[in-house]
Amino acid sequence: MATPFSEILKKYRPAFEKVKVLDATLREGEQTPGVSFTIDQKLEIAKKLDELGVHMIEAGHPAVAPDVYEAVRRISWMKKEGEIRAEIIAHSRAVKSDIDKAAETEPDRIAIFYGVSDIHLKAKHRKTREEALSVIGEMVEYAKSYGVKVRFTAEDASRADLAYLEEVVRTARDAGADRVSLADTVGVLTPWTAQRFFEHMTKAVPNVEYDIHAHNDLGMALASAFGAVMGGATAVHVTVNGLGERVGIVPLQLFAVAVKVHFDLEIIKLSGLMEITRMVERYSGIEVPYNMPVVGDYAFLHKAGVHVAGILADPRTYEAFPPELIGRSRDYVIDKYTGKKAVKAKLEKLGIRVDDDTLMKILEEIKKSKLKFLTDDTLISIAERVSGRALRPRATENIEAVVWIKVDSNAFTSSVARKLSVVDGVKEVAEVTGDYDLLVRVEAPDHKVLNAILDSIRGTKGIVGTHTQIVLKKMEK
Ligand code: COA
Ligand code: ZN
Repeated sequence: MATPFSEILKKYRPAFEKVKVLDATLREGEQTPGVSFTIDQKLEIAKKLDELGVHMIEAGHPAVAPDVYEAVRRISWMKKEGEIRAEIIAHSRAVKSDIDKAAETEPDRIAIFYGVSDIHLKAKHRKTREEALSVIGEMVEYAKSYGVKVRFTAEDASRADLAYLEEVVRTARDAGADRVSLADTVGVLTPWTAQRFFEHMTKAVPNVEYDIHAHNDLGMALASAFGAVMGGATAVHVTVNGLGERVGIVPLQLFAVAVKVHFDLEIIKLSGLMEITRMVERYSGIEVPYNMPVVGDYAFLHKAGVHVAGILADPRTYEAFPPELIGRSRDYVIDKYTGKKAVKAKLEKLGIRVDDDTLMKILEEIKKSKLKFLTDDTLISIAERVSGRALRPRATENIEAVVWIKVDSNAFTSSVARKLSVVDGVKEVAEVTGDYDLLVRVEAPDHKVLNAILDSIRGTKGIVGTHTQIVLKKMEK
């Protein structure tokens, strides 16, 4: 996306080219209040995430509950069976019993977390900084002894003492962790501080890969994740629809689309984003807000007349990216904020053309209406009232049907068309492309006659298949 300053971003493109997406919908996402996925739902979500090309799936914390354990185990199996390509991660506290349970589920990687800010050390762990270092070192080594990859998550890293955090990461790395996640547990990073933070840590403690786990308490998670990648993070934790503890973490869909818009990189299959949005809405019971970026109902729904007029001339006027990028389409609202261009376009979409005078009168009516959303139906009613014309689709008097016909590959389509055109009741025959070869429009006074016509069509030589649709309503010209 070109802005006068987008040059600044150019040098970070390689970082986004290689960034890995870790989806934690099944672990962090299930920590959303009210959310509990069934095992089958988790398997389905994991498969879909894998289809989208997510690199790592954090499948759950096996020590939490038997069904969480079972889900992680079954997802790990899917991986072993070759049904999933993504790396499968099991979450664990820095305690042996959790690590044992995680290892039993046979993941690719165990992720051990431990709060490393003084607040967490004191309140949760009741440990000195030194004691915590030995717990971290021992537990990473213990997990490594199972022959799995290990990530260490420095919980509340963003509020930890920086020099101490360096020691923590060094300890985890030297004990065998090849990845370290720096968690912004309460969402206090900003894009600038996140970038500086990761620049600092990657320099101070090299030879380990860094993840960013950014919470959205101040609505800054996505931006901080961007900053972190610019500063050297090589994996970003996301969840579908931004689910997670409290207000959640970086939404997968937003991260993927933002990377596409700013760097023209498709790190996740964008065409599948709406499907996973809906799937996780259904299974989590948490609907995405109307005004959620990218996936919300209003993301491409324009309202003010000036905007709609702009959009009609060139959608780029009010869209950062085209909705088609993720398989969506744009629309606009009709209400008192509407202008005449919007009404005209809306009416034309409904197959209604009016002169400028009528258009202005319709607009006046709309402005007087107290309705917040004028439906197509209301708009047509207004147009009918103002113009004095009947504009609504009406039921047909005769029975009408369209019949799609497949012609035997050995027969000549045009000779079949000729034969059909003389059948009683056939009003129109057209040669078409696609799954069928001919389209026939039929009119009959009643069903009995219609059936007889259809029978004689089906009995015509050279026809191998038909598909019939009855016309219910028709727009009068
Ligand atoms: N490593 C080691 N111990 C940790 C820890 C960590 N990262 N984080 C917390 N703990 C300890 C606390 O110190 C506390 O121990 P204590 O009982 O000695 O005081 C305990 O874990 C947490 O308290 P509580 O939840 O009451 O313990 P529990 O034994 O009943 O349950 C879980 C532990 C993990 C099974 C349970 O909390 C749970 O199901 N949690 C859901 C997953 C979760 O909390 N995830 C956080 C991801 S950031
Ligand atoms: Zn989290």
